[in-house]
Amino acid sequence: MTTTLDALLRELRDRLQAAGSEEPGLEARLLLGAATGLDTSALIARGLEAPTASQRERADALCRRRETGEPIAHILGRRAFWTLDLGISPACLIPRPETELLVERAIAAIDACERAHPRVLDLGTGSGAIILALKAERPAIEAVATDRSPDALRQARANADALGLDVAFLQGTWLDPFKPSDAFDVIVSNPPYIAPDDPHLTRGDLRFEPREALAAPEAGLGDLYTIIDTALTHLLPGAPLLLEHGFDQARDVRVRMEQEGYREVQSLRDPAGHERITIGVHA
Ligand SMILES: C[S@@+](CC[C@H](N)C(=O)[O-])C[C@H]1O[C@@H](n2cnc3c(N)ncnc32)[C@H](O)[C@@H]1O
Repeated sequence: MTTTLDALLRELRDRLQAAGSEEPGLEARLLLGAATGLDTSALIARGLEAPTASQRERADALCRRRETGEPIAHILGRRAFWTLDLGISPACLIPRPETELLVERAIAAIDACERAHPRVLDLGTGSGAIILALKAERPAIEAVATDRSPDALRQARANADALGLDVAFLQGTWLDPFKPSDAFDVIVSNPPYIAPDDPHLTRGDLRFEPREALAAPEAGLGDLYTIIDTALTHLLPGAPLLLEHGFDQARDVRVRMEQEGYREVQSLRDPAGHERITIGVHA
């Protein structure tokens, strides 16, 4: 029987490591925190205390779920993104750290806009990660977000309410919810871009996330192309479209943007050196 919280933490870490976790120490702390209601500093300060029987049982049950491969964000129902603590359900994509680069560039685009209340649209908002980060950083924006999935939108609205952030959420396919006269200062999107036959879809966290949040036709480029083709009429003159895409899709995205008449088309590299974001501006 585990004698102290420290020993229980080590036991969880060893189990997670044996199950193939890449961050067993961090995940063990998160799971033990959820099982005990103690944050990291309290776990350290009270490490020599004995866990209660129910804390041990809860920790064991949470660890079992992780050992079967369930994403840590689903087990905890939460994921940190940007400066925000977001509620996560299996209906939405688990926000990824690389998407923070898209947020950084969208903030720069908002700051370059001369209007007092720039209209900013996030297409395929999922948990609301991108638009909520933007609204938190730049409260003056008029924030709008869409998703095809009503369940994802429910989670995004719950996150907006919990954070006290005012965002208009609309259900529908890409730009379909808008009239031709609806125009924006910035449009941003992290759409599905994985090829439907990509074996990664059957591995790791991706197995547990909605297929419609991950995979797109045309070798993963179909939704990117639809957004590129339809966003132009909803961008104000000089306004940018910012897209996240796969590390090997930048060239195809740039070519499509140029064919459609965007100007100043450029791709940006993530810290690993991969071109993961492409921006084009309405002429
Ligand atoms: C890769 S996830 C991105 C979620 C979130 N923006 C993020 O970065 O964490 C793509 C999102 O697009 C939505 N989506 C997929 N197809 C769509 C469509 N045809 N129209 C609107 N949204 C769609 C999915 O439901 C999902 O929430």
